[in-house]
Amino acid sequence: MGRVMAKSEIGLIGLGTMGAALSLNIADHGFAISVFNRTTTTTHEFHAEAGTLADKITPTETPEDFVASLASPRAIILMVPAGEIVDKQIAALRPLLDPDDLIIDAGNANFRDTQRRAETADKAGEVFLGIGVSGGEEGARFGPSIMGGGPKAAWERVAHILTAIAADYEGTACATWMGQGGAGHFVKTVHNGIEYADMQMIAEAYGILRDGMGQSASDIAKAFKTWNNGPLQSYLIEISGEVAAATDPKSGAAMLDVILDRAGQKGTGRWTAVEAQHLAAPIPVIEAAVAARNISTAKPSREEGEAIFGAAPQPLDGALTLDDLEGALIAGKIMCYAQGFHLLNNASAEFGWELPMPEVARVWRAGCIIRSSMLNDMATALTETPDTNLMFAPFFADKMRDTHGALRKVVARASEHGLTVPALSAALSYFDMMRTARGTANMIQGQRDFFGAHGFERVDGGSDHHGPWGS
Ligand SMILES: NC(=O)c1ccc[n+]([C@@H]2O[C@H](COP(=O)([O-])OP(=O)(O)OC[C@H]3O[C@@H](n4cnc5c(N)ncnc54)[C@H](OP(=O)(O)O)[C@@H]3O)[C@@H](O)[C@H]2O)c1
Repeated sequence: MGRVMAKSEIGLIGLGTMGAALSLNIADHGFAISVFNRTTTTTHEFHAEAGTLADKITPTETPEDFVASLASPRAIILMVPAGEIVDKQIAALRPLLDPDDLIIDAGNANFRDTQRRAETADKAGEVFLGIGVSGGEEGARFGPSIMGGGPKAAWERVAHILTAIAADYEGTACATWMGQGGAGHFVKTVHNGIEYADMQMIAEAYGILRDGMGQSASDIAKAFKTWNNGPLQSYLIEISGEVAAATDPKSGAAMLDVILDRAGQKGTGRWTAVEAQHLAAPIPVIEAAVAARNISTAKPSREEGEAIFGAAPQPLDGALTLDDLEGALIAGKIMCYAQGFHLLNNASAEFGWELPMPEVARVWRAGCIIRSSMLNDMATALTETPDTNLMFAPFFADKMRDTHGALRKVVARASEHGLTVPALSAALSYFDMMRTARGTANMIQGQRDFFGAHGFERVDGGSDHHGPWGS
């Protein structure tokens, strides 16, 4: 670059949507940052458009210049697409670095990749962090929620930068070290699974309003706005209201009425469901949400089904009220988070992470997509009753007593009227199963013993009994 410049405190590779926003955020908080991007023109455009922050940013054209521009021990954030590209980027960087230089993968990595990279780094005496960053472009620019994983000492080297740029919830930074290896990316994955479920339950309420109650998009917007002033207050309820209120500049119709009913995904919800299966953690609300996205993409099949069986949704004729829907969403949300935290608990035990559950709830209170007022109460409940399923914590048990009737009514009426509520139904079944001391798995044990001599426990004591059906 020719110029002699002071060394930067941190570097970032990958000036895409997230990397550019994160770099500006870092510079905005007074930290000198060097940036590198595969496509050099992007680097220069980014620097030219950085305005008053340009002084804090050192654009570099080669990996060598980039590395040389950083103060030692170096800290380098990668913001490139997850997967093989991260491995390639690490492999290209390492020969240019000293062993105590820190590489931080801030993309949406599969936590198993992060575990592997952490292990490889550890064996080689190198330092690596995997951090989950939530909040999209806006969050990255003005305050994301950050979930860190890797050696604690490495986290502490950059914690002052990460906490400075993170979202702020009433004076507390939404950036926390979650544990070793892939802990941060695992927490981010579960965050995304919960995000899928929150979004699905909101979409189910929207469907009831639209098809069951015959409401227009602008009426629906009003319902969401009302709910956003109550216990459901959250970013997702708020933006759902804004989506419902928006008008298509092209046709003049409600935006919701011109958006095709086919939802995309990048796979983090699926990862949550897959890991839950590995860990034997029941997360049926999140699984239902992932399945619903998959079904949404099968539009031609759904059209074929409607042609064969007729359209499912029927008007509710006053069978449900807005209050019923609000109650159902509250209950569904509690069930979904109870399951998410259960999954985190299982993962924590399996991988030896000791995940700080109240801290997980705290970092999600601001900056991320699932931010909501209820998370503050969850942090309190997880502190006061750490070993209890969230739904049994006194505060949430009271909330469930108040709302499970509405959840049942919504699921029942919706089912009778052909309105699809897979995630809310899963929430209701989970609630009922979790308060049924005498379940039905005795039949399953009987079947297993019948066909496979698997044995069973008896209610009057003892294990490995067999039934009279075997020879
Ligand atoms: N977008 C979001 O809302 C969001 C939210 C949370 C997390 N994330 C995660 O953040 C990461 C970055 O996402 P993004 O949305 O910022 O992506 P993006 O806009 O597509 O940018 C990708 C960046 O990676 C670089 N890149 C792509 N392929 C490369 C390769 N083979 N070698 C080196 N550099 C390469 C690109 O450089 P060029 O300019 O040369 O193409 C670009 O700078 C991903 O892991 C994503 O899942 C995204």
